[in-house]
Amino acid sequence: MNHDNNNQTPDELSFDDFDELVNPTAETTDFDRVVEAAMSRRDLLKSVVAFGSIAALGGYNVLSNDAHAASSRMAFTPISADTADTISLPEGYKSHVVVRWGDPLWSGVPEFDHATRGTAASQEKAFGDNIDGMDVFAVGDKTVIVVNNEYSNRKVMWGNRPDGKPANDDDVLKIKMAHGLTIAEIAETDGTWGVVKDSPYNRRVTPDTPTTITGPAAGHDLMKTAADPTGTTSLGTFNNCGNGRTPWGTYLACEENFNGYFSAEDEKHKVSPELKRYGVSAKDWGYQFARVDERFDVAKHPNEPNRLGFVVEVDPSQPDAKPKKRSALGRFKHENAEMVVNGDGRIVVYMGDDERGEFLYRYVSNGYYAVGGETDSLMEDGKLYVAKFHDNGAGEWIELTPESTGLASMAEVCIHTRIGASAVGATTMDRPEWVASNPNAAEVYCALTNNKNRGIKPNAGGDLTPAAGPNPRAENHYGQIVRWRPNGSDHTSSGFAWDLYVLAGNPEVYNDARAGSSNVDASNMFNSPDGLKFDDNGILWIQTDGNYSNEKDFAGQGNNQMLASDPATGEIKRFLVGPNECEVTGLTWSADKRTLFVGIQHPGERGGSHWPEGGDSVPRSAVLAVQREDGGRVV
Ligand code: FEO
Ligand code: CA
Ligand code: CA
Repeated sequence: MNHDNNNQTPDELSFDDFDELVNPTAETTDFDRVVEAAMSRRDLLKSVVAFGSIAALGGYNVLSNDAHAASSRMAFTPISADTADTISLPEGYKSHVVVRWGDPLWSGVPEFDHATRGTAASQEKAFGDNIDGMDVFAVGDKTVIVVNNEYSNRKVMWGNRPDGKPANDDDVLKIKMAHGLTIAEIAETDGTWGVVKDSPYNRRVTPDTPTTITGPAAGHDLMKTAADPTGTTSLGTFNNCGNGRTPWGTYLACEENFNGYFSAEDEKHKVSPELKRYGVSAKDWGYQFARVDERFDVAKHPNEPNRLGFVVEVDPSQPDAKPKKRSALGRFKHENAEMVVNGDGRIVVYMGDDERGEFLYRYVSNGYYAVGGETDSLMEDGKLYVAKFHDNGAGEWIELTPESTGLASMAEVCIHTRIGASAVGATTMDRPEWVASNPNAAEVYCALTNNKNRGIKPNAGGDLTPAAGPNPRAENHYGQIVRWRPNGSDHTSSGFAWDLYVLAGNPEVYNDARAGSSNVDASNMFNSPDGLKFDDNGILWIQTDGNYSNEKDFAGQGNNQMLASDPATGEIKRFLVGPNECEVTGLTWSADKRTLFVGIQHPGERGGSHWPEGGDSVPRSAVLAVQREDGGRVV
């Protein structure tokens, strides 16, 4: 979801701008904005790439694409930025569409109809909209892909209506059914991947699919509703953004901007301060779910939003199993869930809360993972921490408990997690998006996508957001990637060392901190890093969800894109550019690493794309398969 575009009408507000509209925070004047003004690019870069092999090479100044071209582990010729309504790839690469929004998963379901964009009934049996996180699983000898369908563009979905508004209840139900997850068997035939219709593994998980609430919050009074007096079974999951996967073969779908789906008939209805912290209000983002489903009326069902904002575990090998909401991992606007098996066998999950000035979290299981062993308890019984970054390059994980937060119980910590994290003085971040762990080192990276409020406004909880530490630039339009190394290479340790891996920027427009770090130049610049994942060779793939205006601050940066980066050298090379008005998000690999699956989300969100079918067609979010023309490993 692009959260930071300009020139949007109120009807098209990004989720973040919507949050601020319904829960405005005052501009403050007590920030030390002089810090930013005084910070030269040189000073800032001293803090960048402070550890690692780059330092060993004698400093970051050795970094440049030229210097490393000969020895690059990324064997492709980087491509230029562009603004074409197509997929651009390096020479020697090709791509095809695996599955698109509205493609049927079963025989007898009608093909996508460009004139009507389908019905609720057809959508429920077809691939969902706006792809985000995804992963591929081997189930027996089958390949099963699990994909988040994060949200839907009203302008596209209801674009067949003269006023772009739902004409009837079915239009609302259709957009509801475009949300959730799509699970589908896929197969490669003569080099081309496609969905295997009618596979027993094909499944849609929608906002109406029953899920089990597990962990400390299960059964708490705050989780009980009229329809579920036990507080243990909620309907559905939606606005699933990034994802994670477990070593035991399950998928983690992460609920992000769940607040914008709730509304109240009485527009003056005041929600509780706890709901307000999560951006819930009497006004929804525009889907009008409450019109067709009363549980989305927050005045009537004030606990319903407490049942969202979780990491949801789904087993792709068990199409009938209920998804499990893992409350032990906290409740916030989850981006992704990067799971690491620590050296001692404990499970560690790193997670960002993507909203301006929110926090970075870590979960550590109390139990130990054993192959083939029981895993539910690993996801239900553990400790939750929030990150505090110090300006000297050190950081600490602060455990969230009733004692440390002042909340009444661990259940409340897992429901009002943001409030607990504010209470312990966690570091407000520039919108933590995906977290990725380096398979070759005890080292973790997080995309901090951007934050126009940095140094300007507190977060939704009133916590100050000074330009400092890993968030060094006020009014941060470009974003950065922070990384940390746990002390003793132990992911459960309480301390870590951090630095900035890359500061995105535009060296063609600025020569101060906004130019970015020295591993950014005119040939590889980008804004708003979001999707982040390592491949098995330890190459870090970076996907962007940024401003694609290609002008002013963003001149020369073109459409959203995907880049590859080598943490051993800091080198960054542009690999893929997406079609117009899209976000590039979600990636995974086939078992043989010959196919890289990439998500193209919201092409034409403002009416400027007809990708992938061209002509006058409706733009459709799609999973792309990227391959080398010679059939070798992708990289
Ligand atoms: Fe759904 Fe934080 O992006
Ligand atoms: Ca994202
Ligand atoms: Ca984003």
